[in-house]
Amino acid sequence: MAALLTGAMTAFHESAAPASVQPASILIVDFGSQVTQLIARRVREAGVYSEIAPFNAAEAAFDRLQPKGIILSGGPASVTEANSPRAPQRFFEAGIPVLGICYGQQTMCAQLGGSVVGGRGEGEFGRAFLEVSGRSRLFDGLWKEGERHQVWMSHGDKVDALPAGFAPVAHSEGAPYAVTADEARRFYGVQFHPEVVHTPDGGKLIANFARHVCGLAGDWTMAEFREAKVAEIRAQVGVGHDGGKVICGLSGGVDSAVAAVLIHEAIGDQLTCVFVDHGLMRMGEADQVVGLFRESYGIPLVHVKAETLFLNGLRGVTDPEAKRKFIGKTFIDVFEDEARKVGGADFLGQGTLYPDVIESVSFTGGPSVTIKSHHNVGGLPERMNMKLVEPLRELFKDEVRLLGQELGLPPAFVGRHPFPGPGLAIRIPGEVTKERCDILRKADAIYLEEIRNAGLYDAIWQAFAVLLPVRTVGVMGDGRTYDSVCGLRAVTSTDGMTADVYPFDPAFLSRVATRIVNEVKGINRVVYDYTSKPPGTIEWE
Ligand code: XMP
Repeated sequence: MAALLTGAMTAFHESAAPASVQPASILIVDFGSQVTQLIARRVREAGVYSEIAPFNAAEAAFDRLQPKGIILSGGPASVTEANSPRAPQRFFEAGIPVLGICYGQQTMCAQLGGSVVGGRGEGEFGRAFLEVSGRSRLFDGLWKEGERHQVWMSHGDKVDALPAGFAPVAHSEGAPYAVTADEARRFYGVQFHPEVVHTPDGGKLIANFARHVCGLAGDWTMAEFREAKVAEIRAQVGVGHDGGKVICGLSGGVDSAVAAVLIHEAIGDQLTCVFVDHGLMRMGEADQVVGLFRESYGIPLVHVKAETLFLNGLRGVTDPEAKRKFIGKTFIDVFEDEARKVGGADFLGQGTLYPDVIESVSFTGGPSVTIKSHHNVGGLPERMNMKLVEPLRELFKDEVRLLGQELGLPPAFVGRHPFPGPGLAIRIPGEVTKERCDILRKADAIYLEEIRNAGLYDAIWQAFAVLLPVRTVGVMGDGRTYDSVCGLRAVTSTDGMTADVYPFDPAFLSRVATRIVNEVKGINRVVYDYTSKPPGTIEWE
């Protein structure tokens, strides 16, 4: 896979569930595509358990899992280059189905006696249309001969000679072998990316591979994910008097809460949660979190009230990255102090999700850039010298919500919009002060109350107010005002990686604007942000 989607290695957990709880699975061999986790997600959506292993650790994963099928991911390399990665040859002799995607298709063809040509600067990128030219078990119940289907392409190289036993079953303008199949061996190659949403039938195609071709039942559930993760955490941390201690930072958001509850289920009171209350939370949020953890779950929780420390440090800081770095670092400092006070810990529990991983980390040599240093991934100093427990690292937000429900967290809590680690600081461009936080909290609460009253909360991925460092002139009563502008943002998204603007009814926006200007001293104008992501990001900083 070329420029657009290259670069990242993916999460791979050395310690996995013991064989006794190992469900029938698909092994995903990662060649470094940034969207390998989307393949895993599509397989999970088909009700099938999967694990991802980097190509150079795939044999060990294969032996442990005994998978019923293999998917070879895309990747940034070119099969035509010397030393480019390969799938272990024995995978093609195991008698189980293989689906090769993009680079995965190319290496499969090259390894089985076909050939691949380099793109010489050309290729197919973006939307393309396939002509289905043959029948295949992969297409059963989905695509028929003679049909045209939209897919997403991102390749320079392409297969130019098929191995014995393979036949083309679909082509596109730029790829004569857009889909190839060896029905006898159940080997399939697709040049396009079925795992991305821009291939509308892609999820169904992957489900067809997992269930129809590999013969898996499709009855794997989040309950089993929970069970497997609990076993994994227990194996990693150890239980009883030989077990390690885990300390987990709660941010007030859903992710860290779900991670903490899951870790608590695995190791009980070997876990201590620390809620560093930086004073940059939404209205009433800190009390809710403390109440939920102490009262409903009985999880040992230290509530550190550190508003003054954070606000003092943010004085005069206006650069977004400087804010993020300061908050991240201070969070860790406070956290470290607390960890010391509770007698130290061997592990740090975090609610890192997959989109946090790929947006925050620039992999050595890869072209992916750091857009923002996310406070729960970046800024974690080496000096903490703790191993990480990150049970949600391969999940997307909606999957975390399902897991939260599975763990019995209240639906209203699990359904809460995401909230960034640095909190309101990145919703107050310019200097952050207590006064500005209080103004923003009031405006934000009104906006969210109106959204809830209109029954729109669950239809929106994230909605929040932003307090701009701009003052404008207004007139209220007979007087002149000269106050701040409040921006409103609301987006729909499935994973936070891309987002569309929520199209509110203008009457709704007028109602919110009127209420905010009338009820919040310090704001005299309200604007609505009409920018999608990309090119914007969801947060303003
Ligand atoms: P952006 O602004 O990058 O946000 O489009 C994407 C999603 O990530 C959230 N976000 C964060 N979450 N720590 C977090 O835990 C952070 O530092 C952070 N920054 C942004 C943001 O709210 C949105 O859901």
